[in-house]
Amino acid sequence: MIVSYFAFTPVFRYPKRLHKVVRKLVPNCDVRFLLSESGSTKGAAMVTAVASRVQAQRKQIDKVLALFQLTREQLEGVQDKMRVELDYGLKRDTHPLATVKMLPTYVRGMPDGTAQVGRLWVCSVLVSPLPPNARTQGPARYMLVDAAPTFSTTEKGKFLALDLGGTNFRVLLVKIRSGWRSVRIYNKIFAIPLEIMQGTGEELFDHIVQCIADFLDYMGLKGAQLPLGFTFSFPCRQASIDKGTLIEWTKGFKATDCEGEDVVDMLREAIKRRNEFDLDIVAVVNDTVGTMMTCGYEDPNCEVGLIAGTGSNMCYMEEMRNIELVEGDEGKMCINTEWGGFGDNGCIDDIRTQYDKEVDEGSLNPGKQRYEKMTSGMYLGEIVRQILIDLTKQGLLFRGQISERLRTRGIFETKFLSQIESDRLALLQVRRILQQLGLDSTCEDSIVVKEVCGAVSRRAAQLYGAGLAAIVEKRREDQGLEHLKITVGVDGTLYKLHPQ
Ligand code: GLC
Repeated sequence: MIVSYFAFTPVFRYPKRLHKVVRKLVPNCDVRFLLSESGSTKGAAMVTAVASRVQAQRKQIDKVLALFQLTREQLEGVQDKMRVELDYGLKRDTHPLATVKMLPTYVRGMPDGTAQVGRLWVCSVLVSPLPPNARTQGPARYMLVDAAPTFSTTEKGKFLALDLGGTNFRVLLVKIRSGWRSVRIYNKIFAIPLEIMQGTGEELFDHIVQCIADFLDYMGLKGAQLPLGFTFSFPCRQASIDKGTLIEWTKGFKATDCEGEDVVDMLREAIKRRNEFDLDIVAVVNDTVGTMMTCGYEDPNCEVGLIAGTGSNMCYMEEMRNIELVEGDEGKMCINTEWGGFGDNGCIDDIRTQYDKEVDEGSLNPGKQRYEKMTSGMYLGEIVRQILIDLTKQGLLFRGQISERLRTRGIFETKFLSQIESDRLALLQVRRILQQLGLDSTCEDSIVVKEVCGAVSRRAAQLYGAGLAAIVEKRREDQGLEHLKITVGVDGTLYKLHPQ
């Protein structure tokens, strides 16, 4: 009996005493005690179930991310295929069907290594991005450049430059007082509304001319007569430096009645329609070419211009003897590769994922610019969005709920991608960015989103690297060099905004 007293009494009294003490010590708290039915075994089983679900989900996520991890062999494959396409584009017989168009630009390098100097240089410096040591001064959008290109000290006067190619349109005025030692650049940015980008050609060019008129007004130059350089960042077939027939629109543009037309003529006609000022259009250049020339002032080894921005493209100096489309064998000419079209013949389909295909199908130009769609700012966010939709459908994200926001095309701009990918950003901040985008995420969701952004942008950079390797190696071989020293001029939001 004594045994049973000791065996039972404490059992009955123990809970009561425990409850009593707790109530006494924390009178402001209401503590409920729940007796576990099957000891701790059930809990352990539950933990195991959760852990194995997490493990299974992780495997599914890793499977998706693995599609974006390219091996060295795959990257070498891309390099080799790019090399083949570059050669196709240069040869007369294969050029018409080549996906990498390899367009001669009529920007020449002379046999002695100097570039052709003239009004073209003036224009290209105007239309190129501002040098790093350009500094803003005074009111917004007023830029003063105190760096001086060294090639000429005799140019003087005022020049106008236009830059059309992304979502914004830029107008610049360059004033050269006494040679390039005193250069002032004023520039104004105008938005191009979607309905203009995708309206008629006449509306687009009238809008451009309207912006020029506003700018000239603002600068007190109403009715001015000025030479003008035009950076037109779309594929153009050129027969000379001041003629450019638009082959087809790329990126977000789709204005009618422009493809197959000379964009310089279209601009001239729009200026005539307005009948307010007279501009002498001296040159039309691609943004890659402008970038290469700007960097060329700083570094004479700069023979490549690369744009990693809204679009994706590269230009380089090619030996004239290799350009079958242009007469003459002496010296070099800059080729606008338009490499965004690489893969349009299916040659990189082995590395394209279902997400790339979905992005392509939902774009303005399905089947075209496949390499651009895997590498440029306009599309990376869309690839991320497609992956997130799929992971959500699989129940791996956002509690399996695809929100209206996630269904909306274009919500992931490059800047968000760059911010999310930044190492310095705490997960809480990633969540905040997702919240701004209308996506209600848990902490685990944010980790996955960050991983997805990283995988997509890493693959883009690697594919770009493989393409660039093809051109650099070609230049080395063409010059019969053991070792090549070359500089690549780079511009574009993806390169500038992304975390280093
Ligand atoms: C697109 C255009 C190309 C341009 C590039 C970067 O690929 O077709 O001309 O250089 O975008 O802006």
